Amino acid sequence: MQSADDEPLTKATTPDKLLKQLDLAVSHHGVDADALLRLIDVYLEEAVRTRNPRYLQSLWGDTTIPGLAGDMLASLTNTSMHTYEISPMATLIEQEMVQTMAHIAGFDVGEGVFTSGGSIGNLYGLLCARDWKLPGVQHDGLSGRTLVAFVSDESHYSVNMAINVLGIGLDHLISIPCDADGKMDVAALSQEIDNQKRAGRMPFCVVATAGTTVRGAFDPLPEIAEVCAREYLWLHVDAAWGGAALLSPKHRSLLAGIDLADSLCWDPHKLMGMPISCSVFLARKANTLAKACSHGDEANYLFHEENAGVDRGRISLQCGRRVDALKLWLAWKSLGHSGWQERVDRCMETAAELEAKVRSHARLVLMSERQFTNVCLRYEPADSDGVDLDALNSSIRERISTEGRFMVTKAVLGGQVIIRPVIANPDVDGAMLDELLTEIVRHGDELSGS
Ligand SMILES: Cc1ncc(COP(=O)(O)O)c(C=O)c1O
Repeated sequence: MQSADDEPLTKATTPDKLLKQLDLAVSHHGVDADALLRLIDVYLEEAVRTRNPRYLQSLWGDTTIPGLAGDMLASLTNTSMHTYEISPMATLIEQEMVQTMAHIAGFDVGEGVFTSGGSIGNLYGLLCARDWKLPGVQHDGLSGRTLVAFVSDESHYSVNMAINVLGIGLDHLISIPCDADGKMDVAALSQEIDNQKRAGRMPFCVVATAGTTVRGAFDPLPEIAEVCAREYLWLHVDAAWGGAALLSPKHRSLLAGIDLADSLCWDPHKLMGMPISCSVFLARKANTLAKACSHGDEANYLFHEENAGVDRGRISLQCGRRVDALKLWLAWKSLGHSGWQERVDRCMETAAELEAKVRSHARLVLMSERQFTNVCLRYEPADSDGVDLDALNSSIRERISTEGRFMVTKAVLGGQVIIRPVIANPDVDGAMLDELLTEIVRHGDELSGS
């Protein structure tokens, strides 16, 4: 019999095949409990085993048990975060988590709110930046003014979406080149700010990334903060992925200068093992969110004078909002600061081990200096003359993921296809890493006829 450990991570069923074997349509009379249980069984069979340590594809891995318990408790008690009256303890828990995380980031006053993820956290950042630069914009709109923001060309696509949603226009998000390690080039940033000002546009925000999606690069925050102070620009840091490094005294220097930012987002549903979703948006100055999310006092059907100072619906873009702080609080209570530190350090050690194995393997090339737990690599045959290495590495990754022993993603870095295992699960061990690299090389040898 196959043990859970040997089970493939995915059935890799094609959409057509899966549709054929499922009865997805809902009906007038509904089905009985046995039928529902059978459907649940199929759902579980088809679900990708993301909690297995051999799942190295996404920026999240296992889910911690207190985190799972908190998520279930939130569904069981089913309330919403908009007023203290209907979510008393949840409100205080969210405040506590926000203050704890703000303090860790060095935002001594600080305020914040839980959101559905880094994508929405980036939207909050740009919204606060827009409102700060143009007081009154909530009523006047942009009124013909052309705002421009700046972000590195290795940033997450959600920044583009946020710019679009805010009506600023995708052409007004200026992409700044990165250095060889994937960090924003600050000289190019300064130059672009000048260019935009000369063209009559109004720079308002720089979005720096602390932990880029593909290679885990950290933009140089102190230098970027200096430019922002000089140019009167808001600095938002997308720390959705890299924020967890703040929990480790060994690794928090990766985010040196974060305390100089005006806002940041940080996803505990990534390296911190919280079930999706669990993400926080933090602003350095109090009252930032109350202004940006102001809806006047029109919602008298929800918000009353009592507890007005603590109602979290007054500082959020959402009305109905899930209690996502609960799972994080339970996990934090259980692990303590030291538990987080161990988790982050362990993931970093495993990533360093993987990097060393790649460096010492004759058939593997490390494609970018490792900064976080992302390891960008590719296979190259002994004789690579005339070999399409991009196609070869794409095929290797496809074979690996379809077989389902491991799952990893691929991306394009500097125009070259790379394979990117990432460590977000502290249970990944050296034997698994050896096995993964053996698989990559075996498929590479087979496909290239080496
Ligand atoms: C750097 C970065 N920012 C933002 C996001 C978006 O986060 P979420 O998926 O929580 O919306 C991601 C997702 O991977 C990311 O890597």
